[in-house]
Amino acid sequence: MDSSDDRTASETLRVGVIAGSTRPTRRSPAIAHWVADDTSAPTLQLHTIDLLDHDLSLLSEPTAAAFGEYEQASTLAWSKTVASYDAFVLVAAEYNASFPAALKNALDHLYAEWHGKPVGLVGYGMAGGLLAVEALRPVVAELRMHVAPTTLALSAHRVDDGSYVPAKDEADALRAMLGEIAVLGAALRIARQDALA
Ligand SMILES: Cc1cc2nc3c(=O)[nH]c(=O)nc-3n(C[C@H](O)[C@H](O)[C@H](O)COP(=O)(O)O)c2cc1C
Repeated sequence: MDSSDDRTASETLRVGVIAGSTRPTRRSPAIAHWVADDTSAPTLQLHTIDLLDHDLSLLSEPTAAAFGEYEQASTLAWSKTVASYDAFVLVAAEYNASFPAALKNALDHLYAEWHGKPVGLVGYGMAGGLLAVEALRPVVAELRMHVAPTTLALSAHRVDDGSYVPAKDEADALRAMLGEIAVLGAALRIARQDALA
């Protein structure tokens, strides 16, 4: 590997696209895959993360996540997974004017693992998902994440046969959001290395 390859490797950012609902007939995997399949940001490696694969119970750790003293194997595994990413996209259904409890539970399980990382917010619902996005803002702020300015609020009706069919301009909005994550992610990774974020 020559020095330019080193530079390329160091610029690559791993982005976890979290499918944030767990119902049997959920739409979040379709939307998460639509996000993760976008190739417009060359420095981003996008991977979907399915909460169903992580076997998290309702939070039952004896110690708050801020102390980082995890006892349960599922929390330790989730910590390792989240720590391995430089950035996230949260794909959040709108449930009763907020976002799913399963996603909150997954966020609440950890603390430092989220810190200083960019996050893109993608809401969806029968009425557009904007309230899911807005409900996530104070939560990710508490976790010291940095929200990409462009957010998406999508119609759940546009999931068809397991795939998301974007409306006009939504692919452009997704690319804008991912571009912002690339810029924020590069800066924040350096800041984290210097313990500034
Ligand atoms: C418990 C529950 C509450 C919901 N509340 C809202 C709501 O407040 N606003 C809205 O636009 N859609 C609402 N919906 C519709 C969902 O956003 C829509 O069904 C979406 O597909 C749910 O995501 P999921 O399929 O990934 O579970 C609700 C659905 C459920 C199951």
